[in-house]
Amino acid sequence: MNQLELAPIYAQSLFLRKLALTDTEKLYQMSVEPGMKQWIPDQVYADCNHARQVLEFLMAQYRPDANPKKDPIVLGVCLKNTQELIGHVGLSPLEKHVEIGYAIEEKHQKKGYASEAILAISDWAFKYFDLPLILGVVASANKASCRTLEKAGFTFSQEEERLMHGEMTGVRIYFCKPSE
Ligand SMILES: CC(C)(COP(=O)(O)OP(=O)(O)OC[C@H]1O[C@@H](n2cnc3c(N)ncnc32)[C@H](O)[C@@H]1OP(=O)(O)O)[C@@H](O)C(=O)NCCC(=O)NCCS
Repeated sequence: MNQLELAPIYAQSLFLRKLALTDTEKLYQMSVEPGMKQWIPDQVYADCNHARQVLEFLMAQYRPDANPKKDPIVLGVCLKNTQELIGHVGLSPLEKHVEIGYAIEEKHQKKGYASEAILAISDWAFKYFDLPLILGVVASANKASCRTLEKAGFTFSQEEERLMHGEMTGVRIYFCKPSE
């Protein structure tokens, strides 16, 4: 079976599902929140049409041979009790490895949802793809994101300067390996 047919991926209070065009408006609204503008400016959309184009691209990656070593796999993060879409989490190629990315809508932050979503997608990815590790690359100043990776069990590896969103930025590199 195609691994993506196994989505939704269920966690404790969340499930991760494939994104759909009906998510366009919500994805646009989330993209223009201050935290997104500050930390992931390349995922801020000009308008709903722009968000829709990005969604179409992401949905086109849900192929039978989908593999995060080659193409991004981004899933919506939804609350189990209301089905509401509250963020997204994804894996994408980075050099020879796979990098994790995530965001949670402001009104739902600090409730443990990002760390739960990161754990869920990492477990799923280690099970279905042959990954030696998953990387997390975070601006050192993004304390919320660093703490979130730590809470999700990622190990801090090193701090270095990297080109991020067009600027040399101090970043912290984390990794997570499959559990034995
Ligand atoms: C980073 C982000 C995804 C965290 O989402 P979240 O759902 O609030 O995270 P969690 O609730 O799982 O919190 C995980 C840990 O981070 C801490 N944390 C969350 N937000 C924080 C903040 N603003 N400042 C300090 N710590 C914070 C939590 O307290 C928790 O640690 P604890 O258990 O020791 O208290 C969210 O702030 C976000 O979407 N930011 C904008 C986009 C972004 O930066 N994405 C990551 C790019 S690398």
